[in-house]
Amino acid sequence: MSKNTTFTFDGDSGVLLSLNLMIPKITLFPQTADINRQGHLVIGGNDTVELATKYGTPLYVFDEVTIRNLCRDFKREFSRRYPDTTVVYAGKAFLHRALVEILKEEGLALDVVSAGEIYIAETAGFPMDSVIFHGNNKSAEELKLALKKKIGRIVIDNMDELRMLTSLAEESSHIPEIMLRITPGIDAHTHGHLTTGATGSKFGIPLYKAEEAISTAMAAASLDLVGLHFHLGSMITEFQPYLDAIELELEMAAEMKNKYGFELEELDIGGGFGVQYTLESQVPDVGLFADRITERLLERCQAFRLPPPALNIEPGRGIIAKAGVALYGVGNIKDVAGNTYVSVDGGMADNIRPALYAARYEALVANKADSKENDTVSIAGKYCESGDILIKDIALPQVVSGDIIAIPVCGAYCIPMASNYNAALKPAIVMVKAGESRLIRRRETTYDLIRNDLV
Ligand code: LLP
Repeated sequence: MSKNTTFTFDGDSGVLLSLNLMIPKITLFPQTADINRQGHLVIGGNDTVELATKYGTPLYVFDEVTIRNLCRDFKREFSRRYPDTTVVYAGKAFLHRALVEILKEEGLALDVVSAGEIYIAETAGFPMDSVIFHGNNKSAEELKLALKKKIGRIVIDNMDELRMLTSLAEESSHIPEIMLRITPGIDAHTHGHLTTGATGSKFGIPLYKAEEAISTAMAAASLDLVGLHFHLGSMITEFQPYLDAIELELEMAAEMKNKYGFELEELDIGGGFGVQYTLESQVPDVGLFADRITERLLERCQAFRLPPPALNIEPGRGIIAKAGVALYGVGNIKDVAGNTYVSVDGGMADNIRPALYAARYEALVANKADSKENDTVSIAGKYCESGDILIKDIALPQVVSGDIIAIPVCGAYCIPMASNYNAALKPAIVMVKAGESRLIRRRETTYDLIRNDLV
């Protein structure tokens, strides 16, 4: 803890209340974040400056306590209002066998989108019947694999896939349980690249074709249609799009019940729950999402005279984003036309999100976490693109070469979207807990860059 200060702890989260007031950015970091006597940022009982020295930078640090707490938050908040809820973690946000083991222990299901993600889940011993298989262009090989592994649910994205799976399943001894992804035509008001439920999306079966899909799937003896799925997009900060989508999907289900005897056993409302990246951003907490969504679901089921279906939710970012911190070493510092660029040893190769979605982050100087922030700088990545700016204009203390920059909320969609641009080596990853750190992925080596090449 910081010198000369007395702190009080929040009993539930373990977070230092007065520290939050003095250094508000700390609230964006994992729930175990703290500042020690040296003024260093601490995560999971580990001094991040020591982690940076031990494992090198860029380094991604995942906090096990935060991951588990967020899994529990989603489970608790939805199931206490709607007991028949399954929380399905969306593996695309970040997938690693160490995480899969935690998800298994926490009793979550898993959403995968490729044979690769199935492989990671299976090698970590995740039960295949708790896996939901997504994807807008699953190959015949992937569908055969899903049949062979008896994957829990296959979410059908389009009519071609429905026909392909029907015939593949006829040749197999397994009748797969499927859901149809019905795109409701709703704009979730998120970044254009992150919206998937609007009319014209490349994902799913448009609502106007749902009848054809439902009747075709019901008629296929080799398939067991259990329900409908929608996913509106990612980083959604409003309830209304979910509520509107529920209305439309239930209306369709009721119509199909009357016409074909369709039973909506399961409704999967996808993921997309926004998280807080910056101090200014306002995002409803899980409990509020759960409240509005389950209330609407129950109310509309009653109105349409449908038995309430089992509910699946698919949070990715909501579970893993806050648990991850990126640590970078500072190299050169440059003043150009009134801007100060603090260059770090990573950037768009490990976090493409600022360049791709204009995503905004905060940062602390990990070795000066309790210092006054009296400077404004931009944190520049090291890659050969002008767009490789991790954070434009952020208040930090005076930064010098050798300092460690810590960026919170880096647990989702950074590592999985990392590239080898400029022959960058993908970062090392550590999992921290109760003062222990465990390397869960080694940093790539230069040999990794040529290992698959044939000359
Ligand atoms: N379910 C489905 C069918 C999805 O496609 C996705 C995300 C999720 C669940 C999880 O969404 P989440 O709760 O994580 O928002 N690369 C982008 C995000 C792309 C999301 C793709 N689909 C980013 O960095 O913001």
